[in-house]
Amino acid sequence: MRQKANSPQLTNTEIFFQILKDPDRKSIIRMIWEFFYLYFYYGEFPRQYFSRYLFKKTRTNLLDYYPWKFLYNLKHFFNEKELCEVLENKLYYDFFYRQFNLSLPKILMYNHRNLFVIGKKNFVISSSGEFRTILAEIIKKNSSASDSVIIKKTYWSYGGDKVFKVYLSQISADPSRIDELYEEVTKSGFLFQETIKQHPLLDKLNPSCVNTIRFDTYIDPEGKVEVISAYLRMSYRNCEVDNVSLGGCFVGIDMQTGRLKKEGFSNLIDLGVTILTKHPVTNIVFENLTIPFFEEAKALVMKAASYMPGIRLVGWDVAIGVYEPILIEGNSDYDNTGNDLSEGGYRTNAVFKKVLQEYNVLKKQKTAD
Ligand SMILES: Nc1ncnc2c1ncn2[C@@H]1O[C@H](COP(=O)(O)OP(=O)(O)O)[C@@H](O)[C@H]1O
Ligand SMILES: [Mg+2]
Repeated sequence: MRQKANSPQLTNTEIFFQILKDPDRKSIIRMIWEFFYLYFYYGEFPRQYFSRYLFKKTRTNLLDYYPWKFLYNLKHFFNEKELCEVLENKLYYDFFYRQFNLSLPKILMYNHRNLFVIGKKNFVISSSGEFRTILAEIIKKNSSASDSVIIKKTYWSYGGDKVFKVYLSQISADPSRIDELYEEVTKSGFLFQETIKQHPLLDKLNPSCVNTIRFDTYIDPEGKVEVISAYLRMSYRNCEVDNVSLGGCFVGIDMQTGRLKKEGFSNLIDLGVTILTKHPVTNIVFENLTIPFFEEAKALVMKAASYMPGIRLVGWDVAIGVYEPILIEGNSDYDNTGNDLSEGGYRTNAVFKKVLQEYNVLKKQKTAD
């Protein structure tokens, strides 16, 4: 249904041989030693040795990077499970955050199975033909903003998995795609969102999708909100979403200057041992590219974080619009391994050090209970 970013992926054996042949790798003896050192240090399989490219000669600060399980478990000490629904359900997220006048993408329609809601009106759609008509209507009504609509699953969907973009012209030109979409949409709940128009600079960097900044924020026990880190995600495979799991890459952002760092990363299964310094399609060099409205984007996520004090570690997706940053979503269970990589090791990050300090206290408390 999606114009899928399905280039072939590398097998573990292919990755293994790429590492062996990588001119930038450390010596075999050193790699074996470091691998086992990390294995015993953390007591878990050190996947980070590969996924954070620690086998490369330039990576000498091994202990600044954290293994997956450690990073995964840490988040759950900071976020109240009962509250997470407000972020994980994209409809509740909109209802909750809209009251604070934050800039959010506009919802044009939503549904639960065959029941659809537009504004204050609810109605039944019982055929794909009716669905096509309504879809065309909502796009036309909003045509001053965009000639397409973003359709995304309301709950329990991550990584861009159930996010689709439909252009008005496709409704008549590609009816079988819309039929498939109708089947998918009426199985559960979806929202139909206005397509964000991104800032020209980000469009130039990669025009296939809205390239978002992934920020993570921390609320300390006194309620002080801080932004931990940020990286910019973009597709490099002409995909309509920027998620790394669907063929995206990402580059860290310097928190003080709002400029892109030098190196861009993807998954080993997609790009092998290659570290990018420019966008593979547009060839735009990452280093020092200044993100527009970066300070405003930081302020936006800090405000949003402060309104939900029971969720203290959040990964936010922020689009940079033509005139302002737009908050697409917040994730209470975000993949913080990306931040570990883009920061050159989370341990080097001053705010993350505070998170770790509190984590050690919380862990001790939990063991004592
Ligand atoms: N309203 C929108 N307009 C344009 N692109 C969007 C919009 N919403 C999402 N996207 C694109 O799809 C990606 C995934 O959307 P998101 O809502 O974050 O879903 P998921 O929970 O699957 O990550 C975004 O990072 C962005 O690239
Ligand atoms: Mg997202």
